[in-house]
Amino acid sequence: AQAGEARPAFPPPDVTARPIDRAAWIAAFREVRDETERRAAPLSPEDQQIQSMPDASPTKWHRAHTTWFFEQFLLRPHVPGYRIFDERFFYLFNSYYVAAGPRAPRISRGLVTRPTCAEVQAYRAHVDRAVVALLEDAPEPALAEVIGTVEIGLHHEQQHQELLLTDILHAFAQNPLAPAYDPAWHFPAPAPAKGALALDGGIAEIGHAGAGFSFDNESPRHAVLLRPVAVDRALVTNGEWLDFMQDGGYARPELWLSDGFVAAQSEGWEAPGYWRRTEEGVWSSMTLAGLRTVDPALPVTHVSYYEADAFARWAGRDLPTEAEWEIAAQSGLDGAYGHLWQWTRSAYSAYPGYRPVAGALGEYNGKFMVSQFVLRGASVATPRGHSRATYRNFFYPHQRWQFTGLRLSQGRA
Ligand code: AVJ
Ligand code: FE
Repeated sequence: AQAGEARPAFPPPDVTARPIDRAAWIAAFREVRDETERRAAPLSPEDQQIQSMPDASPTKWHRAHTTWFFEQFLLRPHVPGYRIFDERFFYLFNSYYVAAGPRAPRISRGLVTRPTCAEVQAYRAHVDRAVVALLEDAPEPALAEVIGTVEIGLHHEQQHQELLLTDILHAFAQNPLAPAYDPAWHFPAPAPAKGALALDGGIAEIGHAGAGFSFDNESPRHAVLLRPVAVDRALVTNGEWLDFMQDGGYARPELWLSDGFVAAQSEGWEAPGYWRRTEEGVWSSMTLAGLRTVDPALPVTHVSYYEADAFARWAGRDLPTEAEWEIAAQSGLDGAYGHLWQWTRSAYSAYPGYRPVAGALGEYNGKFMVSQFVLRGASVATPRGHSRATYRNFFYPHQRWQFTGLRLSQGRA
């Protein structure tokens, strides 16, 4: 780093580096834990309680579940004499880890009015003290055994930092007052990007290799066969989406997958998620800053895979595969980690030779490898330093409450 430029606390040092830089790990831990609290800070206890749909979770639950993760996988099994904050929280804040024990039903998270926000804050402080004490005092060999669990706990918490924002946006979008999470929030202007990046066909390699953190679903690195393809540098914009809408895009079954058309009809989709038409016929959209006029120059967001797929068909283009996306990103696709998660046409499934990590944490990614699609990139809600070119996000094809958009591609002769 240049003089005067502080090294960011996140990411932490490589997990294999010895001796373990305890101060750097404590700084990374505090930075991630603080970021969650910064994101929750503008929200009242009432805001933090609400679960606006089964896919979304209350802010208070995100704050508690990320804390549970450290207690469940790090402190209880690995810290002798650790005092459990509240035995009942293992049931309340386990999300989906069957091997970790019974868990409260996901759809009822909004009904859990106790513990209160203040009690969740005390839970966080208790676990923070225990993790920092471990990072300060554990003998190096003992710390070496668990430092990888600290690391995944940090990346896990960052995922929930993004969900915290997408979930409160969904909740606020149901409120007739259309509250602003942050009145100063705005979608960043995209860097000017024109044309497409041309890739040669042939055998290429994708997947994580080398140093730095990755989730198990990014491995093993393996060969793929690429066709010659051109991947657009820019994301599809609201203006282009308005053209699709004006051309009857939502009502033309020939453009849609069967399941997609059923979803569009039954949900009454006629525009991206959170769009509303004013009395004057102008489109506005619910954002983290409240209701804002749709800007045709900005990338379109809150579209499902079904909509992205129909748009690509209407445009006579393709969605890239995840391999095309990854190779393009590594070949200098500017703004690839840009501002929105981008639907790919790749089903979320195991890379050849994939093995989930051992133990309950093996449930983290692997058991979801069916019926979902891979998204690449990062979004305006993703914490800095979280994503990378090999990162595989995944959602069901009907879901559109995340910051999801698309870029197009086209095969070359
Ligand atoms: C990768 C975003 C689909 O939302 O369940 C959070 C992230 N995994 N806790 C999800 C996650 C475990 C995951 N997504
Ligand atoms: Fe989680």
